[in-house]
Amino acid sequence: MNSGQPISVCLIPGDGVGKEVIPAAAHVLEALKLGIAFTHADAGWDCFQQRGNAFPEETQAAMRAASATMFGATSSPSTKVVGYASPVLAMRKLFDLYVNLRPTVSIPGSVPGIDLLVVRENTEGMYSGRERREGDTAITERVITVRASERIARYAFEAARRRPRKHVTIVHKANVLKETDGLFRECCLRVAADFPDVSYDELLVDACAMWLVKDPRRFDVIVTTNLFGDILSDEAAGLIGGLGVAPSANIGAEGVAYFEPVHGSAPDIAGKGIANPVGAILSAAMLLDHIGCPEAARRVEAAVSRTFADGILTQDLGGNTGTEAMTAAIIERLE
Ligand code: NAI
Ligand code: MG
Repeated sequence: MNSGQPISVCLIPGDGVGKEVIPAAAHVLEALKLGIAFTHADAGWDCFQQRGNAFPEETQAAMRAASATMFGATSSPSTKVVGYASPVLAMRKLFDLYVNLRPTVSIPGSVPGIDLLVVRENTEGMYSGRERREGDTAITERVITVRASERIARYAFEAARRRPRKHVTIVHKANVLKETDGLFRECCLRVAADFPDVSYDELLVDACAMWLVKDPRRFDVIVTTNLFGDILSDEAAGLIGGLGVAPSANIGAEGVAYFEPVHGSAPDIAGKGIANPVGAILSAAMLLDHIGCPEAARRVEAAVSRTFADGILTQDLGGNTGTEAMTAAIIERLE
C-alpha cells in the first residue's frame, strides 16, 4: 500500500491509559524515521463529556484521510447513558471493518512456541447492537450472515496461506446454536474448499478454550464469530503475559484501518505512568505491515523482544519500568 505517497497516521488516544500508550507508540513510529506525518483526533468517553459526541465527524474525516489510525481505548459505562454509544463499535460499522486480527506470539519468559492468530468477525454476531428489554426479559439478537461469514473465512484462509503452518481452526458452537453457528460453519467449510493448500479442522468454542490453555502450540489461525473471538483472544493474551502486550488490527475493504492494543482504558492504573506500552507498540508494528512497511514492522518487533530479553519489564509483567522508560528502552534497541 506504500506507493511512494507520504504516510500519515491519525492518533486517537481516547480514554484512560490510551492517553499514555498511544504517545508511546507514536514515539516508536517517529524513531523509525519513515517520514510519517501525524494527525490527532478525539473519540471516547472524555470526548463525549466535553463535546456531547463520542465519535465526532471530524474524527471520522481524519481517519478517512490517514493511511491508518492508531487508537488507544475508550471507557464505556456498563449502564446505558443517553446519547452515548461506544466509538469502537461505531468505527467498525461506519468503515465496515470486518476483520479483527489478534495475534499471540510467545515473548521471552512466557510459554514458548506460541504463534497463533485469531481472526475474529468484527461486525455482527452477538455484537449486532440489536438488544432490547421486554418487561423482565432482555434479548440480544445474534446475527450471522453469509456475506460476513464468507468474507471473514476467506480472510482467515488467505492469512493462513501466508504462514508457515497453513492451518485454520474453525471455531463455533453449531451443536447448540444450530441456525447461527450452523450457517457460520457452513460458510467456513465452503470457503475451505477453495484453499486446497491450507489444512483445517473444527472445534467447539468451549473445547477450544480448554485447548488454548492445555496446548496453545497446536493453533495456527483461528477463525470465529465476534464474541467468541473477543473472549478467546483475551484468553490467548493471558498465555503471554496478559493484556498489556496484546496488539490488534481492525481492517475493512474500504481502505480505512485502525490498530489498537487489545486492552481497555484500565482506569485502575490510568494516569500513573505505569501502563505497559507494548500492546500499543506491537499494534503500531501491525500498522506498518498494513501500510506496506514490513521491514520496519520486524524492526519494532525485534526491539520489543530484545527489551524483554534484557529483563526490562513493566509492572504487569513483574518488573518496575514505567511507560516512558519502557518506550525509551524499546527505541534504544531499534536496529
Ligand atoms: P482493561 O483492559 O481496561 O483492564 C483489565 C486489566 O488489565 C486491569 O487490571 C488493567 O489494569 C490491566 N491492563 C490493561 N491495560 C494494561 C496495560 N497497558 N498495562 C498494564 N496493565 C493493563 O479492561 P476493563 O477493566 O474490563 O475495562 C475498563 C474500561 O475499558 C471499560 O470502560 C471498558 O468498557 C473499556 N474497554 C475498552 C476497550 C476498547 O476501547 N477497545 C476494550 C476493553 C475494555
Ligand atoms: Mg476484549
